[in-house]
Amino acid sequence: MSYDQDLAFQYTNPTKIIFGENSVRETGLEVDALGGTRALVVTDEGIVKAGLAARVEEALGRRYAGTYDRCVQDSGFHLVDEAAAFAREKEADILVSVGGGSVIDTAKGMAILLKEGGKLADYKGMQVLSRPQTPHVVVPTTAGTGSEVTWAAVIKDWDLNIKELVASYYLIPDRAILDPVLTAGLPAPLTAATGMDAFTHAVEAIHSIERQPITDGMALQAIKMIARFLPVCVEEGDNLTARGQQQIAATMAGIAFGNAQVCLAHSIAHALGALFGVPHGLANSIILPHVMRFNLEECPDRYALVAEAMGIDTRGEDELSAGKAAIEAVTALTERIKLPQKLREVKVPEEELAKAAELALEDGDIIFNPRPVMDAEEVLNILKEAW
Ligand SMILES: [Fe+2]
Repeated sequence: MSYDQDLAFQYTNPTKIIFGENSVRETGLEVDALGGTRALVVTDEGIVKAGLAARVEEALGRRYAGTYDRCVQDSGFHLVDEAAAFAREKEADILVSVGGGSVIDTAKGMAILLKEGGKLADYKGMQVLSRPQTPHVVVPTTAGTGSEVTWAAVIKDWDLNIKELVASYYLIPDRAILDPVLTAGLPAPLTAATGMDAFTHAVEAIHSIERQPITDGMALQAIKMIARFLPVCVEEGDNLTARGQQQIAATMAGIAFGNAQVCLAHSIAHALGALFGVPHGLANSIILPHVMRFNLEECPDRYALVAEAMGIDTRGEDELSAGKAAIEAVTALTERIKLPQKLREVKVPEEELAKAAELALEDGDIIFNPRPVMDAEEVLNILKEAW
C-alpha cells in the first residue's frame, strides 16, 4: 500500500454519528443540540406508509413542525423548490430527512434555499456556498447511499434529462442517526441494490486517484463488512445485527468516498440513471466488475487489497492475479444476492449505449478514475461488455 512522497490530502468528517437499535428516539435531543425548535420531516410516501416517518415525528415531540412527503426517486430541481416553499410555510428552522438518497439530497437542497433563498438551480456546481446552512439531521432508511455524511446532492434536471451536482462542504449533514430497525423492512432486491451502491463507493474510494490512507482504512473495513453482512441482510431481512453492520459500513464508505471521491463506475451509473432510469445501486452493481477490469493493469495493488478485505486467500499470488480474484469475488457477491448481471436485464436499449457513453464522459467523477478515460469509445466498450 505504497504512496508517493508527494502525497497531500484533506479529510473532513463533521457529522456526528449515532448508532444503535431504536436510536431514532434520540432525534429530538439532537435537534435541541443543534438549536432547532421547528423541525420539518422530509420523506416520501412509502416511508410514511411503512410507519417510519411516524417514529421520527414521535421522537421529535414538541419540536415537530410538519412533514413534506412528496420526495421521489431522482429528485428534481423543481421539487426541491416546492419542498423549500412548504418548509418556509411551516416556519421550519431545522430539517430531518427520513429516507434513502433522493430524500436526503432533497433535504440538502432545501437546507440551502431556507438559508440563502432563490431557486436550487442557482446553486449548481461545486463549493458555491460560503457559510453554514440550515441544520440537517439524517435518519437513513436504506444502507447504501452514504449521503448522510457526504457533501453532495445529486439532483436531476427533468427537462434536460441529466443529473447535476450541488456540492459544498456546508451541505454535509450535522447528524446521522443510524437505527438498524428502520432498515429491517427494506425488501431484498432494494437491500441488495443499495448495498452494492455502498460497496461501489468503497471500491471507488480505494482505486480513486484521490485515495489517501485515512479513507483507505474506512473503505477496506466497509468492504469487509459488506462482503460478510450484505448477503445476510438480503437472506434474513430481520437480522438486526447484519442490518446494523451493513448500515455502519455504508456510512463508512460514504465518509471514504466523500473525501476520496468516486470514479468511472459512478459516471456510468449516473448516465444510466438519467437516460434510462436504472436505479443507482443496480447500475453500479452491474458496471463495477467491468470498470475494475478496465482499471486492473493500472492499479492491481489496490484490487489485491480489495481481495484481502473480501476474505480471499491471496498468499503467494502476485498483485495482478489477486486483483483478478477480487473482480471475480465482486461478481460472485452480486450473484449471491441475486442482482441482475447484465444491462439488458434492466431494460437498457442496446442501440442507445453510445449515448450513455457520451453522457458518462461528461460526468465530473470520471476525472478521478485511476486509468484515464480518453474517449467515449472506451466507455462504450465497457457498456457493451456489460450489456
Ligand atoms: Fe453511489
